Amino acid sequence: MLSIAVSKGRLSDAFADILECAGYPCHVLKESTRKLVIESPEAGLRFILAKPTDVPTYVEYGAADLGVVGKDTLVEANKRVAELVDLRYGRCVMVVAVPKAAGIQNVTDLDFNSRVATKYPHIARTYFQDHGIQAEVIPLHGSIELGPIIGLADAIVDITETGRTLVENGLESIAEVMDSSCRLIANRVSYKMKYTEMQRLVEAVEGVVADEDH
Ligand code: PRP
Repeated sequence: MLSIAVSKGRLSDAFADILECAGYPCHVLKESTRKLVIESPEAGLRFILAKPTDVPTYVEYGAADLGVVGKDTLVEANKRVAELVDLRYGRCVMVVAVPKAAGIQNVTDLDFNSRVATKYPHIARTYFQDHGIQAEVIPLHGSIELGPIIGLADAIVDITETGRTLVENGLESIAEVMDSSCRLIANRVSYKMKYTEMQRLVEAVEGVVADEDH
């Protein structure tokens, strides 16, 4: 049996749809339950329901053979895992955003030592370093857009999907940091030890994803 770490919700429902199309029956993943481990014996899969930011950890340590996680979370986690398939859903863009009223057009216009609130401190620090900008990165766990509103930060680095959260909180994007979408990742040792089983799933999933693109 292969184990797959996923976070429960909209993104795991989309993954369940892909698996179903790929010939792996897994309607159990879409059922409402408080269980944290769900099995689909007919598909030969065990799902481990984890927090999104913990998925790369489960996979790195081999507690799960595979995992489904956003590229944003994967880059931030910086774990030693194999990235196998771009699942092409859960698309979003990570941006640097500032209050509209600040009149800042470009990241290079940010004041020296500007404070930047983010759930992605590793990515944000790397981005500002690469752009030669001295900024103080303030890690938060959510509702990042609050930062500039209450005077905690001058800017944020966060993901945006529809752009609605930025607009409704008086913020605007001044730079794109990276694009993101969900990825299928694997434990490196599992991928060697269970290659046939895992590669069969990978190829079936790739086929569905490629088909949905056209
Ligand atoms: C994410 C992100 C933004 C919002 C963007 O937050 O951090 O706040 O979604 O989506 P939009 O562009 O479609 O408005 P999430 O819902 O994950 O909650 P969080 O802020 O508590 O992390």
